[in-house]
Amino acid sequence: MINHSSKIIITGGLGYIGSHTVVELQSKGFEIVIVDDLSNSSIEVLDGLKNIIGKNIAFENIDLKKPDLVIDLFKRHSDLTGVVHFAASKAVGESVTNPLDYYENNIYSLVNVLKALKKLNKSINFIFSSSCTVYGQAKILPITEKESIKKAESPYGNTKQICEEIITDTVSSSKNLKAISLRYFNPIGAHESSEIGELPLGIPQNLVPFITQTGAGIRSELIVFGDDYPTIDGTCIRDYIHVVDLAKAHTAALISMINSTHSKNYEYYNIGTGKGTSVLEAITSFEKVSKTKLKYKIGSRRVGDIISAFADTSKANKQLNWTAEFSLDQAMASAWKWQKKISK
Ligand code: NAD
Ligand code: WQD
Repeated sequence: MINHSSKIIITGGLGYIGSHTVVELQSKGFEIVIVDDLSNSSIEVLDGLKNIIGKNIAFENIDLKKPDLVIDLFKRHSDLTGVVHFAASKAVGESVTNPLDYYENNIYSLVNVLKALKKLNKSINFIFSSSCTVYGQAKILPITEKESIKKAESPYGNTKQICEEIITDTVSSSKNLKAISLRYFNPIGAHESSEIGELPLGIPQNLVPFITQTGAGIRSELIVFGDDYPTIDGTCIRDYIHVVDLAKAHTAALISMINSTHSKNYEYYNIGTGKGTSVLEAITSFEKVSKTKLKYKIGSRRVGDIISAFADTSKANKQLNWTAEFSLDQAMASAWKWQKKISK
């Protein structure tokens, strides 16, 4: 059973998905310590969290690439029950330009954390942020966890595959570590309070922030990357999941490990809605919830794009007792509300 004072370290907890997960875990009574080096987030996120939660959350500004700092961090929090490891660099295009920075940050950070946990020599529950990118273009849709892992399209995607393998090997050599990798599909939207949300730096690479910035007049128009794919309307299909549903999957995963509801020490789960949405359907949803006509035009295909990816979530539904609840329109409305707040 959950000890309601269980301490959980959330690395990358000031980032987009991490901050929403802080809210969900805190609401279940977990004691949270956020660790973040602010390399892709802002200290103001702590204020947003405080406004939602009603109290300060412990925060440590630490770069997880630095092994001595990580050992010291975990020594000081040796009473912890679990770690949710979000901290990583995530821009696919940047990883192609600067592959070594991506291997360095994403892999060293994970290795440093796992080494420090091993030194503690106590039972720990570990959750890793993986990605549907490990499947590449799947042969069978919806994608189950039985789908084969494809050669990664980018150094970023490769770090997720390597990190999953590092976790597999570490768990099998450890008596104390239980781990779950959550393979996220496409997180979108923001907390209903609009106190926290996605803060893309520069020109957004992902569809929904690009749509909302275009709706807000920050971008002149959205280019739809190709309408000649073999899909219902010719545009690519993705599984867009409300970030709050995604955050709740972490709570469910942590509780399942704490309560030992499954037998394996390392498991991985697809976390999506199970529903495929085309780019044009996403635009229609935005226009409906925002009552705004979106300026867009059809452009050429983006190199490396997967045609269609959406999750079979039955493993997570059954084993984690978790299901995504928000609709695309609800997620899109929350993304729009957040955009209007931050572009004021
Ligand atoms: P994000 O960039 O908003 O959050 C990551 C956080 O980690 C940031 O606050 C950053 O400052 C911090 N960080 C990075 N390197 C660090 C280091 N060395 N030490 C300490 N802190 C560090 O990203 P996000 O969208 O919230 O993604 C969280 C995780 O989920 C990442 O691992 C990402 O690869 C994975 N993921 C994201 C998506 C997505 O579409 N957003 C999809 C699949 C998987
Ligand atoms: C969605 C759809 C685009 C922008 C990325 C990462 C992947 C994973 C999930 C982390 C696609 C189209 C987009 C635009 C467009 N992240 N699009 N015009 O492709 O699933 O992948 O996020 O692990 O690693 O690569 O998401 O939001 O970039 O694109 O037409 O300006 O929107 O072609 O079909 P994607 P996305």
